[in-house]
Amino acid sequence: MAWSDWIRDGVEVEPSLYAADFRRLGEQIDALLGAGCRVFHFDCGDGHFVPPVTMGPVVLRSIAPGIHAAGGVLDCHLMVDDPVHHFEEFAASGADSVTFHVEVTADPAAVAANARGHGLGVGVVFNPETTPARAAEAATAAGADIVLCMSIHPGYSGQAFMPEAPGRIAELATLVDVPIQVDGGVGEDNAGALREAGASLFIAGSSIFGAGEPAEAYRRLRAAVV
Ligand code: DX5
Ligand code: ZN
Repeated sequence: MAWSDWIRDGVEVEPSLYAADFRRLGEQIDALLGAGCRVFHFDCGDGHFVPPVTMGPVVLRSIAPGIHAAGGVLDCHLMVDDPVHHFEEFAASGADSVTFHVEVTADPAAVAANARGHGLGVGVVFNPETTPARAAEAATAAGADIVLCMSIHPGYSGQAFMPEAPGRIAELATLVDVPIQVDGGVGEDNAGALREAGASLFIAGSSIFGAGEPAEAYRRLRAAVV
């Protein structure tokens, strides 16, 4: 199974579990599965590439079996200095794909080959300071399955969407022919513009988990982009 099998109707909304209520994590995942969600976004921050330490394999191991049993997958965003160091443990803990930052990757082809050697899908992600051209070059070298355009500075959920993101996505769309993902401040208010710009994978943290009913927020956001 690969990204091309995971994306339904050309579009996915991916709840970013970093924004979940961790006391009720399993319950919230089950509600989202019940609402039809199958691709979950999982953020790992190392406290160095981004300021916070977020979550890692120990959490992945708890949630992956239930998600996989329901036919779902875990898309892991590694906000870390040394992604390769983590691939083996992520794969063993239930990750299905890993996305690494171009800002810390001198040899994207080698990093991607390492991930694929562990049976993982491959994404390449770039920060607001990085040009779409540089991201596209890395994604092509890596043979990436997806490219993620950050619409915030990575690190925390709940930040304001950066209005330059749709333009950056539109530029990226002229340079790559793999699905474009967007992460940061995504919600019903900007999803249409992002879709129009060329994004097809919508990561949403606070707009889903900050809502009273995450499953309902998920359904609404999916309906806004399908
Ligand atoms: C932050 C993470 C995001 C975050 C998104 O660096 O990469 O996935 O959880 O949260 P929102 O949607 O609230 O910006
Ligand atoms: Zn993320």
